[in-house]
Amino acid sequence: MSLPGKKIILGVCGSIAAYKAAFLVRLLVKEGAEVQVVMTEAAQEFITPLTLATLSKRPVLSQFSSDRSTGQWNNHVDLGIWADLLLVAPASAHTLAKFASGHCDDLLTAVYLSARCPVWVAPAMDLDMYQHPSVQTNLKKLASYGNTIIDAEEGELASGLSGVGRLAEPENIAHKLSAFFEHSQSLHNKKVLITAGPTQEPIDPVRYLTNASSGKMGYALAQEAARRGAKVALVSGLVALEFNHPAVTITSVTTAEEMLEASQKRFGEVDIVIFAAAVSDYAPAQKYSQKIKKKDDTLTLTLKKNPDIAQTLGRQKKDGQTLVGFALETNNEIAHARQKLEKKNLDIVVLNSLNDPGAGFEHDTNQVSLLNRKNSDILQFNLKDKADVARDIWNFIEQYEV
Ligand code: C5P
Repeated sequence: MSLPGKKIILGVCGSIAAYKAAFLVRLLVKEGAEVQVVMTEAAQEFITPLTLATLSKRPVLSQFSSDRSTGQWNNHVDLGIWADLLLVAPASAHTLAKFASGHCDDLLTAVYLSARCPVWVAPAMDLDMYQHPSVQTNLKKLASYGNTIIDAEEGELASGLSGVGRLAEPENIAHKLSAFFEHSQSLHNKKVLITAGPTQEPIDPVRYLTNASSGKMGYALAQEAARRGAKVALVSGLVALEFNHPAVTITSVTTAEEMLEASQKRFGEVDIVIFAAAVSDYAPAQKYSQKIKKKDDTLTLTLKKNPDIAQTLGRQKKDGQTLVGFALETNNEIAHARQKLEKKNLDIVVLNSLNDPGAGFEHDTNQVSLLNRKNSDILQFNLKDKADVARDIWNFIEQYEV
């Protein structure tokens, strides 16, 4: 059993995929979880509370009050405190919109707002609904609140159309849940420093040198570390991501010099450092105080080398500190990654190749290989969502530290 004693509230919304909630409840109960089902009004049109109550061995809740005559009250606050995790599967477009905006007109939305535990939402709807910018915006909003989104899968839909919108298979959801609980608190008492995002090097008051890094990989690593109980200092270049977690302190920086200074301040007190930032190797030697005017056919800028943050801190590494760097390579990937381990005094290198489609900058996915200093093994992974890649990287770091 991989979920012994875990208390899970399963929110079920009105979607044809609600029938899959029955399979999900069975799987979770089989893995040892205590499952409390909370259904929306609409969900009951698709599957009966009796089915889910029988499988979960608990009465299904959907109203604030179960029995008006006795005044029995289903306290959303108590439920929110009771749960180790709130999983909403299937999550309809309607309920997602209510979660995103803070609307609270039924038991499930009240439990959502009261939940102190991690919240996972697994959307399911027709492909055009799923792709609609308002649904996608709501999902991004929920992710920015720290909720985990289990992306809908591709396949045949109830409408007869084919595309992305199917509820993730119950087996996949149950598997993710087991992996999630397996590592909770494994980084308790650890302090972690993560650099993330691009740097910007000013040329003049309105122009700068930068790169296409989105910061998504570094932020996913910070989120996963915090989930495992670590205290995280995230030193981040300017990114378009919203992120809040009580265990994560974000310091926003612009240039490589600022990133080094902010990282240096925390370096002495941390156990693990991940250099996930895409730091500009060079910066303009001189910052023009006025906007450069268009004049000649060519313009020459002189660049100076930026500090290498990983290498600088690598030189100061103390016993017991683990340093992890990234290598984005286009040729001789493994050899270059190994050189980076030595040159920067790193313990682990995460290699991603620009030759792999969907890997590296800007994407929501990444495909990595992991190398370490202790041996010549190389662990290769498939293309995955960056949250899953973050889990693989943290599992690897934890094993390396043993
Ligand atoms: O040398 P290269 O840029 O390929 O090394 C990449 C690794 O070094 C990444 O982990 C990156 O965050 C880090 N790095 C750094 N400071 C730099 C350049 C790279 O910390 N100036």
